[in-house]
Amino acid sequence: GAMAEERALAMATCTAPVNIAVIKYWGKRDNELILPINSSLSVTLHQDQLKTTTTAAASRDFTEDRLWLNGEEADVGHPRLQTCLREVRRLARKRRGGGTEDSSPLNLSYKIHIATENNFPTAAGLASSAAGYACLVSALARLYGVEGELSEVARRGSGSACRSMLGGFVQWQRGERPDGRDSLAHQVAPETHWPELRVLILVVSGEKKQVGSTAGMQTSVDTSPLLKHRAEAVVPERLALMMRHIRERDFEAFGQLTMRDSNQFHATCLDTFPPIFYLNDLSRQIIALAHRFNAHHGRTKVAYTFDAGPNAVIFTLADTVAEFVEVVRRSFPPATNGDQFVRGLPVGSASLPEELVAAVVPEAVPGAVRYILHTQPGPGPQLLDDPSQHLLGADGLPQGRP
Ligand code: DP6
Repeated sequence: GAMAEERALAMATCTAPVNIAVIKYWGKRDNELILPINSSLSVTLHQDQLKTTTTAAASRDFTEDRLWLNGEEADVGHPRLQTCLREVRRLARKRRGGGTEDSSPLNLSYKIHIATENNFPTAAGLASSAAGYACLVSALARLYGVEGELSEVARRGSGSACRSMLGGFVQWQRGERPDGRDSLAHQVAPETHWPELRVLILVVSGEKKQVGSTAGMQTSVDTSPLLKHRAEAVVPERLALMMRHIRERDFEAFGQLTMRDSNQFHATCLDTFPPIFYLNDLSRQIIALAHRFNAHHGRTKVAYTFDAGPNAVIFTLADTVAEFVEVVRRSFPPATNGDQFVRGLPVGSASLPEELVAAVVPEAVPGAVRYILHTQPGPGPQLLDDPSQHLLGADGLPQGRP
């Protein structure tokens, strides 16, 4: 209660997942509050393969706010980071004002240190801002003893980050209110709902993405009539269908709609003026490969989706992983170090029938796919209790970890 002594140093560490949208978010109706023009739906990926870890510390001895990204000191003044910090502190103040017992109140005016790192290479071009802001908000909330609805705060860091606040299958409801209080993430089904579902991330070689999501979607909102039509007429119907396909674990319907929605998102990019191109030649080769594979089997066994970059994310079922991975290996043989080509969850070996090779595998393009990461749906942010897992030492500075 009010009598408790203030703590000199407090620290909290959380991890948070990446998510991949199957109904895409593209376009804001409010840039400051990060309110979307349409609802979206994603699958949260397992943190055993992809995660961000963040430690947040507050101390009366810190003289300034500081931030470290993957061990390198970075600018703590980033407006979206500052917004998240302000919003978590506001919730903490509200909670205390409400008279909730807090055994050890942390002085809200202490300076903070934040350290964050990814267990995957940033260079891989995998979306990291969603996991990053979900993790920051989770760690700050824990630090200040805030509980409950936090997707609204994560959304202020990056729109897609609100979906990383929950595990499994997650919907971000666009909401109707101008203040954004109803623009929240909800779990559609937990990660245990569809045990056979697998995800293959095909990390492609080559250049970094040209136009960031924030700038890209702004230009699309300003110029693309297709995006307006998509948000108003296409997404509402698709969202209802996608929820049904997930509920029924109907992979063929889920996969087809996932591919169509990715394609429509990239069509709105082409409809943007000047146009934005996130897909490259290799992305298009992977798209064609997936369609030939499905055609050969006479049903949808794999489904691709692409965000604001050329990496392909493939959804499939466990019984198809080994065969499709072998098809990718034959199509895009690793340039060097072939035993690091498949990472993450184990992949069995498969020998491809001659007819499949003849019908599906193109002329090999060596080195085009750098590696494949095999993962699956996973849970939301986690709290790390063990103090040895903090990224900051007792002095509040980054500590090397084994
Ligand atoms: C293509 O969430 O990165 O990945 O809200 O401006 O931070 P901001 O954008 P961001 O956009 C993600 C766009 C996407 C589709 C999706 O994840 O739904």
